[in-house]
Amino acid sequence: MKQLSSLLAERGQTHILQGFEELTLSEQNDFVKQIENIDWEMLELWKHPEDLSGKGRVEPIAGLSLSEIEAHRAEYFALGAEAIRGEKVACVLLAGGQGTRLGSDGPKGAYDIGVTHPLYIFEMQIKNLLDVCASCHAYVPLLIMTSDKNDAITREFLKQHDYFGYPASHIRFFEQDMAPSVSFTGKLYLEAWGRLALSPNGNGGWYSSMKRAGADRDFPHVEWYNVYGVDNVLQRSADPVFVGAVIASGMNSGAKVVRKTEPHEKVGVLCLEDKKPSVIEYYELTEEMANMRDGDGNLSYSFGVILNYLLSAKKLEEIAGERIPVHVVKKKIAHIDEYGAFIKPETENGYKFETLILDMVRLMDSCLPFEVEREREFAPIKNKEGVDSVETARILLQKNGVTL
Ligand code: UTP
Repeated sequence: MKQLSSLLAERGQTHILQGFEELTLSEQNDFVKQIENIDWEMLELWKHPEDLSGKGRVEPIAGLSLSEIEAHRAEYFALGAEAIRGEKVACVLLAGGQGTRLGSDGPKGAYDIGVTHPLYIFEMQIKNLLDVCASCHAYVPLLIMTSDKNDAITREFLKQHDYFGYPASHIRFFEQDMAPSVSFTGKLYLEAWGRLALSPNGNGGWYSSMKRAGADRDFPHVEWYNVYGVDNVLQRSADPVFVGAVIASGMNSGAKVVRKTEPHEKVGVLCLEDKKPSVIEYYELTEEMANMRDGDGNLSYSFGVILNYLLSAKKLEEIAGERIPVHVVKKKIAHIDEYGAFIKPETENGYKFETLILDMVRLMDSCLPFEVEREREFAPIKNKEGVDSVETARILLQKNGVTL
């Protein structure tokens, strides 16, 4: 205990020991374990959050346009469908996020976007996946990443709804790892006396979390993981045409992308960085790069990523030990104050530490940008109102003929 106190004193974190004496022995032991697991080096990053890896030489990347995909559709479909029938493709649904911007308490996938009848995000995504299964005559393993914060409720919700018609035999859940969060001055937050305020450590940890949980164990033939976000209601996963195109390209990965509508659209774009695929954030593009056009008059940096990646299992295994950058993100962090009162802040009050799947793309060495029709495949729900909200997603769903 003395050792622990001096470690915390050295780090300026003794405040978390408040209330320690009143804890039961087992609570004390659990808390000590939490403290022992803290990655102090990562925590120090709050001091220079903008200092990420630094960019190398950035260039545009070549990708498949809608018309090129159309010209080879049948060939790509056949290749992709064959891989799906051979159990070589698995879906990984990233549903471990907290959706703080949306501000709903439950899992985002359980959010009801219907108007005249219930219509859940999970339901829409599974419906699209079932269409793929019907066209390929095979079920695709569906691995769902949750977090400690929403695991039980996500499982319960999907079970209650009979997995929206998806066979439970092909679904596996796994929990992602958690990381501590700190105030704007780097002080660890507690969610209760003797318990750190932990939060999911970003979607970049999906592979190690999946492996640790052994969620892939029952699907030994998988060669491709299609990893995608829960918050796109028009998400099309295990798309055989996409799978076929990536296989035909011989690359280690592929990314579904939409064309940017204007030079400054706030979306990460796929590019080459030191000859390797990389996702560069909109604010990292210089004015010149944002406006640069190719010979056909299209924006050179126009492939906006939509969090739908196809990644080679073999390559993932190869890069498993490599580190990816930690992002320090401003978020609203629920915590107890010094009197023990629980606070659910209305505005951002600290930093969380996350790794992001987009940083994995670089480690894959090669990536095929695969253009999709924005209005058919991209309806993200991030916010309560305005841009990328329930409202904008509903409009897009209606355009796609969905009765709300
Ligand atoms: P976001 O970056 O939008 O984060 O996640 P979020 O936590 O869901 O929402 P905000 O920022 O708090 O409002 C993009 C995708 O990555 C998943 C999310 O569930 C979503 O599908 N994700 C995010 C995880 O699975 N784990 C994480 O730790 C973070």
